[in-house]
Amino acid sequence: MSSSDNFYEPRAYDARVQGVPGDVEFFLGLAKDADADGHPVLELATGTGRVAIPIARAGVTVVGLDRSKEMLAEAKAKSQDLGNVRWVKAEMTSFDLPERFGLVFVPFRSFQHLLTVTDQLACLRRVHNHLVPGGRLAIDVFNPDIVVMGQWLGFKRGGVHKRRDDYVSPASERLVKARESRDYNPANQEVESTFIDEELDDEGAVLSRVYRGLKLRYIFRYEMEHLLARTGFEIEDVFGDCYGSPFGDTSPEMVFVARKPVGQSGHGP
Ligand SMILES: C[S@@+](CC[C@H](N)C(=O)[O-])C[C@H]1O[C@@H](n2cnc3c(N)ncnc32)[C@H](O)[C@@H]1O
Repeated sequence: MSSSDNFYEPRAYDARVQGVPGDVEFFLGLAKDADADGHPVLELATGTGRVAIPIARAGVTVVGLDRSKEMLAEAKAKSQDLGNVRWVKAEMTSFDLPERFGLVFVPFRSFQHLLTVTDQLACLRRVHNHLVPGGRLAIDVFNPDIVVMGQWLGFKRGGVHKRRDDYVSPASERLVKARESRDYNPANQEVESTFIDEELDDEGAVLSRVYRGLKLRYIFRYEMEHLLARTGFEIEDVFGDCYGSPFGDTSPEMVFVARKPVGQSGHGP
């Protein structure tokens, strides 16, 4: 048995994570718009380059930024043949890059790693500063499901549940049984998950068990709209998934596409 502080272990990440359905194509479409206008694009919290690398392979110039050197090392290893992608180790709340971008995008709920309003605003202000006038910001966060939240706060409290797909470990090639336990803290709008991964032998006996913790802040629709307005963005669209469906009560995601207005340079309000 072991526990890990590092939720993001690059090889395990690539084995167990598919992202949000349709997200690579969705962000690629926006990236191609920026590229058509002659601008590079920036992915914040790029991880192992799951989204950034296909965008670079499509011919768009990309910068991928992440705080984890391990995740970036994996991204670099997977993109050695590409001359149009640059990897930067930095915080998404304080980065300072020489480029100005036509698109900054934050897929797969990574913005929810920012647990305070101070950090959320700092990130959005950095984005605003790095966009060309008229440039776009696209952010995917999950749509907080108050029914699910109510269940975890009630009868599921303290339970361990099978909410994740089993996967094959890239290191041992053995099946890994994947489960999750959650705790919601409504006062802080935080959800703290413990992911429990058990590696099984051919008879189904548990060979090892790893616990990984992940804390995210959940965000409601108009809260996000206010954050964007406070940092000088105009909202273009709010989608309910990465296929461009309109946002509605039961949408799994909230995907915001916002613009830095033409005529604005530097920081927003
Ligand atoms: C869910 S992964 C997403 C990776 C990739 N964007 C994808 O869609 O597969 C979240 C990433 O956010 C990074 N991260 C978390 N907090 C960060 C911060 N404050 N600044 C930069 N990166 C951060 C983690 O290191 C991790 O690689």
